[in-house]
Amino acid sequence: MSKKTVIGLLGLGTVGSGTLKVLNKFDNIIIKNIAVRDTNKKRNIEGLDNNILTTDAEMLVNDPDIDIIVEVMGGLHPAFELIKKALQNGKHIVTANKDLIAKHGEDLFSLAKENNVVIMYEAAVAGGIPILMPLRQSLSGNSITKIAGIMNGTTNYILTKMESEGSEFNAVLKEAQELGYAESDPSGDVQGHDAANKISILASLAFNKKVDVDKIYREGIDYISPIDISYASEFGYNIKLIALAQETKDKALDIRVHPMLISKKHPLAHINDVMNAIVVEGDAVGQVMFSGPGAGEMPTASSVTGDVLSIASELGINEYPLPMMRNNHSTNAVQLKIDDSRSRYYIRVNTDNLPGVIGDLGLTCGRKGINLCSIIQKGLLPDGTARIVLLTALAYEKDIQEALKEMYQKRTMKRVENVIRVMD
Ligand code: NAP
Ligand code: HSE
Repeated sequence: MSKKTVIGLLGLGTVGSGTLKVLNKFDNIIIKNIAVRDTNKKRNIEGLDNNILTTDAEMLVNDPDIDIIVEVMGGLHPAFELIKKALQNGKHIVTANKDLIAKHGEDLFSLAKENNVVIMYEAAVAGGIPILMPLRQSLSGNSITKIAGIMNGTTNYILTKMESEGSEFNAVLKEAQELGYAESDPSGDVQGHDAANKISILASLAFNKKVDVDKIYREGIDYISPIDISYASEFGYNIKLIALAQETKDKALDIRVHPMLISKKHPLAHINDVMNAIVVEGDAVGQVMFSGPGAGEMPTASSVTGDVLSIASELGINEYPLPMMRNNHSTNAVQLKIDDSRSRYYIRVNTDNLPGVIGDLGLTCGRKGINLCSIIQKGLLPDGTARIVLLTALAYEKDIQEALKEMYQKRTMKRVENVIRVMD
């Protein structure tokens, strides 16, 4: 009879419960113990043996019978210390913890290498969507040139609702919290931290370099208004929170997270509600898109289970399981500063309604070398001032910022109401 693989599960919340349900279908997998914060908590999990619950997570990482530690407790601490100890004890790791992998992945990958074990984290990026394994294996013949994705379901839900109902950000956020989509502290999602963690993980895999998540430029979606969504639509765009990683000619990595106007012809423009999608561009494959549920109990459990089964299938056969999934990098990425990045821009301003104002805005852009694709007045506001929208060709961020500074100094300028980057 072939050996059964013994699992220690750290966490039995949303992802842990789903993982338990899916893993229970496999006869070759034994879940020996599950660490939780509170063993008396009521849990509606059919067939759960309460005797295997413990608050002593250390016991699992030190248990010589356990082959794989599945960490789905979340947070940096004590998850970091527990995983380190498990690696030192020769255990393989499966985790869904993007915060931990983005922040401390490289230390853990080195420790895994030293101990001849592997860390798998498919669920950490875009929940149920398989993206890490395809990048490491199926797409390994490519030089990856660009990754762009919608990697946060909460913000995509909010932007989709704002678009379909014309509602303000705060109203939709409140509704999303009541429905349980957004957390009570939604800042990790709406300020783009969650997407930054995910793109940092993807970029380091795709470009084979260490990425510093703290250097990733990030904007949230809280400044997007229904007016921008409606104008964007008139110009042929939807607005999405995009996580982007691309290599420049000089091999620097341009990695950022911010809202973008996405052309309705782009496949990402039609990814709605809580769905996620990631477009990968490679020199051989061209463009491929991976889409699906980016979070949730069962989709995330699907990815966790896939990782567990991949490791289990090699235990006892291969002394060095899944060599392609070793992820420690020796080179630090040179990360492009936002000032040196290039994008197209949507700029919405509010000015006096006087002759020459539009021409003057055009001249300001021209002086900074910014080519305008469109400049139109969108009527008058109740106070008699004019609302004007500019769409630029590709421009350097630093030139845009200088042009905005000059616009602010004009007597006729009331407000620069919004600046959003554009992707065609
Ligand atoms: P969750 O529902 O809050 O569950 C956390 C679980 O960990 C709970 O069972 C909790 O115990 C246990 N726990 C927390 N701290 C502990 C400690 N110090 N010692 C022992 N047990 C502890 O979280 P989740 O949504 O499942 O997320 C888990 C991880 O998956 C996070 O890293 C998250 O970012 C990632 N992830 C989540 C999703 C998703 O859709 N939720 C998708 C992708 C990735 P109690 O039950 O006793 O409180
Ligand atoms: N909070 C995340 C989201 C789910 O809204 O997409 C976990 O990655």
